[in-house]
Amino acid sequence: MNFSDSEIVNAILADHRFETTHNPEEADVVFVNTCSIRENAENRVLQRLQELNRLKKEKPGLTIGVLGCMAERLKEELLEKVGFVDVIAGPDSYRDLPRLIHIAEGGQKAINVILSADETYADINPVRLDQNRVSAFISIMRGCENHCAYCVVPSVRGVERSRNPETILNECKNLYEKGYREVTLLGQNVNSYSWSQGSHYADFPELLEEVAKTNPQLRVRFATSHPKDLSDQLIEVIARYENVCKSVHLPVQSGSSRILSLMNRGYDRQWYMDRVEAIRKNIPDCSITTDIITGFCSETEEDHQETLSLMKWAAFDYAYMFKYSERPGTIAAKKMQDDVPDSIKSRRLNEIIALQQELSYQGNLRDVGKEFSVLVEGVSKRSEAELMGRNSQNKVVVFPGSKELCGQYVNAVIIRCTPATLIGKLADE
Ligand code: 5AD
Ligand code: SF4
Repeated sequence: MNFSDSEIVNAILADHRFETTHNPEEADVVFVNTCSIRENAENRVLQRLQELNRLKKEKPGLTIGVLGCMAERLKEELLEKVGFVDVIAGPDSYRDLPRLIHIAEGGQKAINVILSADETYADINPVRLDQNRVSAFISIMRGCENHCAYCVVPSVRGVERSRNPETILNECKNLYEKGYREVTLLGQNVNSYSWSQGSHYADFPELLEEVAKTNPQLRVRFATSHPKDLSDQLIEVIARYENVCKSVHLPVQSGSSRILSLMNRGYDRQWYMDRVEAIRKNIPDCSITTDIITGFCSETEEDHQETLSLMKWAAFDYAYMFKYSERPGTIAAKKMQDDVPDSIKSRRLNEIIALQQELSYQGNLRDVGKEFSVLVEGVSKRSEAELMGRNSQNKVVVFPGSKELCGQYVNAVIIRCTPATLIGKLADE
């Protein structure tokens, strides 16, 4: 999400004749695009800002700005923490950045943290920052109205709003013409995508279908799906279109119905299992990945065991795993006790990580001997003679091959694997 926002910011500034550099020493303005989701994400931002302050001391004219969620959450308070910051801009005020920079260059602090009910940056053509020129992110909606008890997102990213589908389809077509072969449609909860104008109405399965039809050679991914809203209709669209990737990111958060209810997730363990079964039945080769939070308020050993047993049952291909981090202003911070000691959170997290490592390895072992269509993204980090790409299931595949294949689909047979990577060779060799 943040990556996609940085591309929007880049486009707005490029329109005002700013040029991008990846080297902060060359820059007149440096923006840090921030995340507030966990406390350590914010701590990393604060560290990064201190590094930039050292640069500012050598180069007094340097303008430093904080963008995104942390700007929105802390507003003016950020200046108490990091007084050397010049610009503070929330996620809905990027269009105002040229003006804010101008104010800052005049020596004043510039802040805009107004949230909008309708800003989707639909007309902005993002300036791509990706390295590979093969796969791109497309933001299709902004904000979230789910109010999960632990989550700061609804308060820092505002109400849900969906982007005009026509602008999304045009962006897909343009990207294809530029040589891109994969798009990932992004939203906090893509299943809530809903657009209407006059008699025209589109929900997410319809949008996904339209995107899939723009070109069969353009792969489509999407994230994130909320389990409570994952419809049979969506599963049917994924199954029907070859170019819709067979991979669903479905954050479970916990395997305990009691904890899920406290988290205000809107589903229980059984509902989640039903959704996984529906995916497995209709899309047998689909990978399923998840997010897990351990140590949420009042989580017992029994709740934790339920998370482990659900992980085994679902055999997740991959998981993002976190210790619960209390965020100011959330329902949990206001109404619940962050009462699981950090040492227990760490132990549970380690057990979850160890189990997931094993599940990912077992999942990869099942792929050994299979052939996959792989979209080549670039040269492997380890060796110039090897390429790296992904299969439809979003698994990384590494195999010997020459650079000319970048951006193309190839068939690869899997010879062996690690927990994180499939290692293969070109099918017709
Ligand atoms: N503490 C820990 N993890 C969190 N997430 C969201 N809020 C918190 C929090 N307060 C995790 C959830 C979500 C992912 C993006 O971040 O798992 O799905
Ligand atoms: Fe946060 Fe829940 Fe919205 Fe995801 S769905 S962004 S976890 S409130």
